[in-house]
Amino acid sequence: MPHGPAEVGVGPWEGPWPEGEQYDAALLAEGDRRNVVDRYRYWTLEAIVADLDLRRHDFHVAIENWQHDFNIGTIVRSANAFLAREVHIVGNRRWNRRGAMVTDRYQHVVHHPDVPALAAHLREQPGGPVALWGIDNLPGSLPLETTDVPRRVCFLFGQEGPGLSGPAREACDATFSIAQFGSTRSINASAAAAIAMHAWVRAHADLSGVDAWRG
Ligand SMILES: C[S@@+](CC[C@H](N)C(=O)[O-])C[C@H]1O[C@@H](n2cnc3c(N)ncnc32)[C@H](O)[C@@H]1O
Repeated sequence: MPHGPAEVGVGPWEGPWPEGEQYDAALLAEGDRRNVVDRYRYWTLEAIVADLDLRRHDFHVAIENWQHDFNIGTIVRSANAFLAREVHIVGNRRWNRRGAMVTDRYQHVVHHPDVPALAAHLREQPGGPVALWGIDNLPGSLPLETTDVPRRVCFLFGQEGPGLSGPAREACDATFSIAQFGSTRSINASAAAAIAMHAWVRAHADLSGVDAWRG
Protein backbone atom coordinates (compact mmCIF):
# COMPACT_ATOMS: atom_id res chain seq x y z
CA MET A 1 0.00 0.00 0.00
CA PRO A 2 2.43 2.72 -1.16
CA HIS A 3 0.18 5.66 -0.28
CA GLY A 4 -0.87 4.56 3.21
CA PRO A 5 -4.22 3.36 4.48
CA ALA A 6 -7.41 4.79 2.93
CA GLU A 7 -9.12 5.32 6.27
CA VAL A 8 -8.01 8.33 8.30
CA GLY A 9 -7.07 7.85 11.93
CA VAL A 10 -7.06 4.91 14.29
CA GLY A 11 -9.67 2.64 15.86
CA PRO A 12 -10.29 1.97 19.56
CA TRP A 13 -7.13 1.57 21.66
CA GLU A 14 -6.15 -2.10 21.90
CA GLY A 15 -4.85 -3.45 25.19
CA PRO A 16 -4.47 -1.64 28.51
CA TRP A 17 -5.18 2.07 28.20
CA PRO A 18 -2.20 4.45 28.46
CA GLU A 19 -1.99 6.68 31.50
CA GLY A 20 -1.79 10.43 31.34
CA GLU A 21 -4.05 13.47 31.54
CA GLN A 22 -3.60 14.10 27.84
CA TYR A 23 -5.68 11.07 26.89
CA ASP A 24 -9.36 11.35 26.03
CA ALA A 25 -11.39 8.38 27.29
CA ALA A 26 -13.96 8.65 24.50
CA LEU A 27 -11.28 8.61 21.82
CA LEU A 28 -9.53 5.65 23.44
CA ALA A 29 -12.83 3.77 23.54
CA GLU A 30 -14.19 4.68 20.11
CA GLY A 31 -11.11 5.51 18.04
CA ASP A 32 -9.64 8.78 16.84
CA ARG A 33 -10.58 9.78 13.29
CA ARG A 34 -9.49 13.42 13.57
CA ASN A 35 -7.08 14.99 11.11
CA VAL A 36 -4.19 15.19 13.58
CA VAL A 37 -0.59 14.01 13.36
CA ASP A 38 0.29 10.68 15.00
CA ARG A 39 1.86 12.42 18.01
CA TYR A 40 -1.59 13.61 19.09
CA ARG A 41 -3.64 10.46 18.59
CA TYR A 42 -6.15 9.98 21.42
CA TRP A 43 -5.20 13.33 23.03
CA THR A 44 -7.83 15.80 24.19
CA LEU A 45 -8.18 19.05 22.25
CA GLU A 46 -7.00 20.99 25.30
CA ALA A 47 -3.87 18.84 25.67
CA ILE A 48 -3.00 19.29 21.98
CA VAL A 49 -3.39 23.08 22.18
CA ALA A 50 -1.28 23.19 25.35
CA ASP A 51 1.47 21.17 23.66
CA LEU A 52 1.37 23.33 20.51
CA ASP A 53 1.62 26.41 22.73
CA LEU A 54 5.00 25.17 23.97
CA ARG A 55 6.35 25.07 20.40
CA ARG A 56 4.62 27.84 18.47
CA HIS A 57 6.74 29.79 16.01
CA ASP A 58 7.37 33.51 16.27
CA PHE A 59 5.42 34.50 13.16
CA HIS A 60 1.80 35.63 13.03
CA VAL A 61 -0.64 35.69 10.12
CA ALA A 62 -3.34 38.30 9.53
CA ILE A 63 -6.02 38.75 6.87
CA GLU A 64 -8.45 41.52 6.18
CA ASN A 65 -12.08 40.39 6.24
CA TRP A 66 -14.36 43.11 4.90
CA GLN A 67 -16.22 40.91 2.39
CA HIS A 68 -16.21 37.47 4.10
CA ASP A 69 -13.19 36.34 2.17
CA PHE A 70 -13.38 32.61 1.39
CA ASN A 71 -9.61 32.23 1.76
CA ILE A 72 -9.56 32.67 5.51
CA GLY A 73 -10.27 29.03 6.33
CA THR A 74 -7.43 27.74 4.21
CA ILE A 75 -5.08 30.39 5.62
CA VAL A 76 -5.97 29.21 9.14
CA ARG A 77 -5.23 25.63 8.12
CA SER A 78 -1.79 26.57 6.76
CA ALA A 79 -1.14 28.69 9.86
CA ASN A 80 -1.79 25.57 11.93
CA ALA A 81 0.44 23.40 9.72
CA PHE A 82 3.33 25.86 9.94
CA LEU A 83 2.51 26.60 13.60
CA ALA A 84 1.85 30.34 13.62
CA ARG A 85 1.72 31.94 17.06
CA GLU A 86 -1.60 33.70 16.33
CA VAL A 87 -3.98 34.22 13.44
CA HIS A 88 -5.55 37.68 13.19
CA ILE A 89 -8.77 38.50 11.40
CA VAL A 90 -9.26 42.19 10.72
CA GLY A 91 -12.77 43.50 10.09
CA ASN A 92 -15.83 41.28 10.21
CA ARG A 93 -15.86 38.71 12.98
CA ARG A 94 -17.73 36.17 10.85
CA TRP A 95 -15.76 34.08 8.43
CA ASN A 96 -16.32 30.87 6.52
CA ARG A 97 -14.71 28.09 8.58
CA ARG A 98 -15.13 25.37 5.98
CA GLY A 99 -11.61 25.53 4.54
CA ALA A 100 -10.10 25.46 8.03
CA MET A 101 -11.04 21.77 8.41
CA VAL A 102 -11.41 22.31 12.18
CA THR A 103 -7.81 23.57 12.53
CA ASP A 104 -9.11 26.85 13.98
CA ARG A 105 -9.76 24.98 17.24
CA TYR A 106 -6.04 24.42 17.63
CA GLN A 107 -5.04 28.00 16.82
CA HIS A 108 -5.37 31.28 18.68
CA VAL A 109 -7.60 33.29 16.37
CA VAL A 110 -7.83 36.95 17.37
CA HIS A 111 -10.31 39.46 15.91
CA HIS A 112 -9.50 43.14 15.44
CA PRO A 113 -11.93 45.85 14.30
CA ASP A 114 -9.32 47.49 12.08
CA VAL A 115 -5.64 47.39 11.13
CA PRO A 116 -4.50 50.01 13.70
CA ALA A 117 -5.92 47.71 16.42
CA LEU A 118 -3.92 44.82 14.96
CA ALA A 119 -0.78 46.98 14.85
CA ALA A 120 -1.28 47.98 18.51
CA HIS A 121 -1.71 44.33 19.49
CA LEU A 122 1.55 43.42 17.73
CA ARG A 123 3.44 46.23 19.43
CA GLU A 124 2.40 44.89 22.85
CA GLN A 125 3.48 41.28 22.35
CA PRO A 126 5.48 39.57 25.11
CA GLY A 127 9.14 39.71 24.14
CA GLY A 128 8.79 42.98 22.23
CA PRO A 129 7.09 44.36 19.13
CA VAL A 130 6.32 42.20 16.11
CA ALA A 131 6.94 43.69 12.66
CA LEU A 132 3.89 44.05 10.41
CA TRP A 133 4.62 43.06 6.82
CA GLY A 134 1.99 43.54 4.16
CA ILE A 135 2.11 40.85 1.50
CA ASP A 136 0.74 42.14 -1.81
CA ASN A 137 2.11 42.79 -5.27
CA LEU A 138 1.62 46.53 -5.10
CA PRO A 139 3.75 49.14 -6.87
CA GLY A 140 6.78 49.66 -4.64
CA SER A 141 6.53 46.29 -2.89
CA LEU A 142 9.92 44.72 -2.18
CA PRO A 143 10.67 41.18 -3.45
CA LEU A 144 9.96 38.61 -0.75
CA GLU A 145 12.35 36.13 -2.38
CA THR A 146 15.47 38.25 -1.81
CA THR A 147 14.53 39.75 1.55
CA ASP A 148 15.60 38.34 4.92
CA VAL A 149 12.41 37.45 6.76
CA PRO A 150 12.57 38.57 10.42
CA ARG A 151 11.86 36.07 13.16
CA ARG A 152 9.21 38.23 14.80
CA VAL A 153 6.84 39.18 12.01
CA CYS A 154 3.15 39.25 11.16
CA PHE A 155 2.25 38.69 7.51
CA LEU A 156 -0.87 40.64 6.53
CA PHE A 157 -2.88 39.61 3.46
CA GLY A 158 -5.57 41.42 1.52
CA GLN A 159 -8.77 40.17 -0.03
CA GLU A 160 -9.66 38.86 -3.45
CA GLY A 161 -10.34 41.88 -5.64
CA PRO A 162 -9.21 44.94 -3.69
CA GLY A 163 -6.09 43.42 -2.12
CA LEU A 164 -4.65 45.21 0.93
CA SER A 165 -6.81 48.18 1.95
CA GLY A 166 -5.43 51.72 2.16
CA PRO A 167 -5.30 51.69 5.99
CA ALA A 168 -3.52 48.33 5.87
CA ARG A 169 -0.88 49.65 3.50
CA GLU A 170 -0.33 52.66 5.76
CA ALA A 171 -0.01 50.56 8.92
CA CYS A 172 2.52 48.09 7.50
CA ASP A 173 6.26 48.54 8.04
CA ALA A 174 6.65 47.65 4.34
CA THR A 175 4.93 45.56 1.66
CA PHE A 176 6.41 42.55 -0.11
CA SER A 177 5.53 40.82 -3.36
CA ILE A 178 5.83 37.22 -4.54
CA ALA A 179 7.29 37.03 -8.05
CA GLN A 180 4.95 35.77 -10.78
CA PHE A 181 5.75 34.90 -14.38
CA GLY A 182 2.43 34.18 -16.08
CA SER A 183 -0.50 36.30 -17.25
CA THR A 184 -2.63 36.51 -14.10
CA ARG A 185 -2.30 39.65 -11.99
CA SER A 186 -2.25 37.74 -8.72
CA ILE A 187 -2.35 34.38 -7.03
CA ASN A 188 -4.98 33.30 -4.54
CA ALA A 189 -4.50 34.91 -1.12
CA SER A 190 -4.23 31.60 0.70
CA ALA A 191 -1.58 30.43 -1.76
CA ALA A 192 0.32 33.66 -1.12
CA ALA A 193 -0.06 33.08 2.62
CA ALA A 194 1.38 29.57 2.38
CA ILE A 195 4.35 30.86 0.39
CA ALA A 196 5.07 33.62 2.92
CA MET A 197 4.75 31.27 5.89
CA HIS A 198 7.05 28.78 4.23
CA ALA A 199 9.60 31.54 3.60
CA TRP A 200 9.60 32.02 7.38
CA VAL A 201 9.96 28.25 7.93
CA ARG A 202 12.93 28.07 5.56
CA ALA A 203 14.63 30.91 7.41
CA HIS A 204 13.89 30.10 11.05
CA ALA A 205 12.23 26.75 11.79
CA ASP A 206 14.11 23.82 13.30
CA LEU A 207 13.94 21.32 10.45
CA SER A 208 16.22 18.76 12.07
CA GLY A 209 14.04 17.58 14.95
CA VAL A 210 11.12 15.17 15.28
CA ASP A 211 8.72 18.14 15.41
CA ALA A 212 8.99 18.65 11.64
CA TRP A 213 6.13 16.38 10.53
CA ARG A 214 6.44 14.98 7.01
CA GLY A 215 3.83 12.26 7.16
C1 LIG B 1 -6.14 38.22 -5.42
S1 LIG B 1 -5.06 39.30 -4.60
C2 LIG B 1 -5.75 40.90 -4.97
C3 LIG B 1 -5.05 42.10 -5.38
C4 LIG B 1 -3.85 42.18 -6.25
N1 LIG B 1 -2.95 43.21 -5.72
C5 LIG B 1 -4.16 42.53 -7.71
O1 LIG B 1 -3.55 43.48 -8.24
O2 LIG B 1 -4.96 41.88 -8.35
C6 LIG B 1 -5.50 38.99 -2.94
C7 LIG B 1 -4.36 38.94 -1.96
O3 LIG B 1 -3.52 37.85 -2.25
C8 LIG B 1 -2.16 38.16 -1.93
N2 LIG B 1 -1.38 38.05 -3.16
C9 LIG B 1 -1.81 37.58 -4.34
N3 LIG B 1 -0.82 37.56 -5.24
C10 LIG B 1 0.29 38.03 -4.61
C11 LIG B 1 1.65 38.22 -5.00
N4 LIG B 1 2.08 37.93 -6.23
N5 LIG B 1 2.50 38.74 -4.10
C12 LIG B 1 2.10 39.01 -2.84
N6 LIG B 1 0.82 38.84 -2.41
C13 LIG B 1 -0.07 38.35 -3.28
C14 LIG B 1 -2.19 39.57 -1.36
O4 LIG B 1 -2.24 39.51 0.05
C15 LIG B 1 -3.46 40.15 -1.94
O5 LIG B 1 -3.96 41.21 -1.16
